[in-house]
Amino acid sequence: MQNLLHEIEQFCLRNDISETRFGELALNDKPFVSQLKAGRDLRGSTAAKLRKFMADFEANAVTNPAGSGRFPAGALAFPHRDLLGIAQLERHEILYVLDQAEPWVELNRQPDKHAGLLSGLTIINAFFENSTRTLLSFEIAGKRLGADVVNMHAAQSSVKKGETLIDTAITLNAMRADAIVIRHGSSGAVDLIASKVDCPVLNAGDGQHEHPTQALLDALALRHALRQRGERSEDFTGLNVTICGDILHSRVARSNILCLQALGASVRVCAPPALMPAGVEAMGAEPFHDFDAALEGSDVVMMLRLQTERMQGQFIPSAREYHHLYGLTKTRLDCAAPDALVMHPGPMNRGVEIDSEVADLLDRSIITRQVEMGVAVRMACLDVLTRRRRGVEGWGGAA
Ligand code: NCD
Repeated sequence: MQNLLHEIEQFCLRNDISETRFGELALNDKPFVSQLKAGRDLRGSTAAKLRKFMADFEANAVTNPAGSGRFPAGALAFPHRDLLGIAQLERHEILYVLDQAEPWVELNRQPDKHAGLLSGLTIINAFFENSTRTLLSFEIAGKRLGADVVNMHAAQSSVKKGETLIDTAITLNAMRADAIVIRHGSSGAVDLIASKVDCPVLNAGDGQHEHPTQALLDALALRHALRQRGERSEDFTGLNVTICGDILHSRVARSNILCLQALGASVRVCAPPALMPAGVEAMGAEPFHDFDAALEGSDVVMMLRLQTERMQGQFIPSAREYHHLYGLTKTRLDCAAPDALVMHPGPMNRGVEIDSEVADLLDRSIITRQVEMGVAVRMACLDVLTRRRRGVEGWGGAA
């Protein structure tokens, strides 16, 4: 067993992580290293698990030139208090979060999904707009990390009694939350709240602006699907991605354009003229109105819902005509690259933007994998953003 201790020490040195951090990452935050140092033996299965963790971790670092061992140390790896948008992130910071999510993907596949990392911390999910998967995913992520998670639904909150957003923010702050996750219908509302509170704020979608954890989970799902095919690691250089749907009203499109491009992909966006934002080229995306033309040579097709709740007036003649021109059918998917992957952030409107037979294609659709990765990515974000408060070594002490 002392060999194992030596292996762990060498591993930590090589990868520039502390032994405490190793204990946190290599599954459940259990004091493996101190047990070994005290001369106690670990169970054979635990030792095997730790060795597998080290091997997997380093395999990532080897295939990835910007892998985990090469990020700036401590808080320099992610020097932000909040996660407001992908626009504020550098490529290496995005990769850092994705790498941090990998052990959580593994943990989430175990029967015991608990890690005590955030025990004692309070996380408030303040959702001023409807949500199923994002809210649930943040709630599960916080709970698996051991935090006390409280959900605030706008319908039952004082917002309905006329309270201003700033007063709501001050109220949440006074309750000494350790992180606040916010979804709001107005673009910029999350930034405003972040400027009024002391704790980390995570944007869970603000109006038509950004939805950063969605883009991060999409990148992680894509990375896993490509790796499974043995195609590449986490970098998307040379990959053609087409995002089709209501680009104008979509925060998912915006965050994904930024994230995919930062990771090297070429992004095409496709929408009817009325649903294409002006100046999308300035973001580096290539606009198309003809879906078949956009699909040609696409390795990934990401479909988006019509955001009818954000539409004032008539943007499309009818759902039927929209499906005819912009719906992803099996025949249309054949215009894309062979084996092109299909993505959708959900909720899906089957028969409108995507046909059931495409959404459920076993070897091509990674829609449920996106949902799976959502929990791991949110665990990584909550972990990284609360490190300062938790006094994690190298992250600047308690805030
Ligand atoms: C998206 C959202 O809310 O922005 N959904 C999600 O978070 N999974 C997309 C949508 O509502 O269409």
